[in-house]
Amino acid sequence: MNKKILIATGGGDCPGLNAVIRGIYNAAKSHGGYELWGSLEAFNGILSDPVEIVELNREKVAGIHVKGGTIIRTTNKGNPLEFPVRGADGTINTVDRSDELIRKINEHGFDAVINIGGDGSQKISLALYDKGLNIIGVPKTIDNDLSATDRTFGFATAVEIATDCFDRLVTTAESHHRVIIMEVMGRNAGWIALHTAIAGGAEICLIPEIEYDVLKVVDRINQRYERGRGFVNIVIAEGAKRLGGTVVGSNSKDIGDPHVKLGGVANLLRHQLEISGCQAQVRSTVLGHVQRGGTPCAFDRVLATSMGVKAFNMVVEKKYGNMVTYKNHQLEEVPIAKAVEKYNFVSHDHYLISTARQMGISFGD
Ligand code: F6P
Repeated sequence: MNKKILIATGGGDCPGLNAVIRGIYNAAKSHGGYELWGSLEAFNGILSDPVEIVELNREKVAGIHVKGGTIIRTTNKGNPLEFPVRGADGTINTVDRSDELIRKINEHGFDAVINIGGDGSQKISLALYDKGLNIIGVPKTIDNDLSATDRTFGFATAVEIATDCFDRLVTTAESHHRVIIMEVMGRNAGWIALHTAIAGGAEICLIPEIEYDVLKVVDRINQRYERGRGFVNIVIAEGAKRLGGTVVGSNSKDIGDPHVKLGGVANLLRHQLEISGCQAQVRSTVLGHVQRGGTPCAFDRVLATSMGVKAFNMVVEKKYGNMVTYKNHQLEEVPIAKAVEKYNFVSHDHYLISTARQMGISFGD
């Protein structure tokens, strides 16, 4: 009898999720003896009554590596450990449905689960593993903020998209002699901003790890204009903040989504510059989810495909409780408990910080 693997994609989507699914599928077919199923919208599919799970066959999986999003869909509102339920009086409470989830996974005959997701999803993987579930983690996020892996798929694509947008903003900034601020995603890490600033040749790059001084940013802009009819392109990470300030965002309105939704710091910076002596016209652009959509770049397709294959091999070898990682150009495995220990901030002594500084990019500090 075939063994059964259940796949879930959780949290925000990112380019490359489908390539992982196809990687798992093709590796399983080459090996033989396995059936693959997907739980729709992370673990909500299994928790639904009736369950919403689909068998992944060749027809569903062929060619999906070039497609953005996830064919089994995702959600950031389905933590089985803190599942939101509405009471009779309309109030929302959370209940722990993890035991029910594991029971249903077992009742449906699944031998193992592969959970593809970021920090939040892997914390869920860990809790389920601790309760006895045979689970393997695959890291994903455009933010590249998981410390156990040098790269997450989706990140390279997000940087490509952001750099393309940045290049377009350079030509319009130049024509109008303007200051143009471009806000990128990345949550509390400045990786997307830092890579985009170096790739695009920004004058200023503002990241969460280095608080910026508005007056220093203004000085830097004015210096460029003193040399003639200048223009300035700034990349700012959504989680950046001024000295002693706080991030720009608000609590999610979605029931069950615990994350603060960052966004809008570019508009705040525009205002800060306008009232702080910046002589030039300032415009701001918030890229938002465009960085997460569409087809993955070749690097992410390769990384995601090989992570899928590796995850399948880890199931065969029963390496449960581990997550796939990409370290020093090799695929390895790390205990999920270790993978979720630490957030991957940009360290001040990272080589890209000194590269940027020596390229004349200001961090506003
Ligand atoms: O973690 C990926 C990410 O795109 C972050 O960069 C961003 O802050 C967040 O998700 C946006 O979340 P949502 O899709 O819920 O708005």
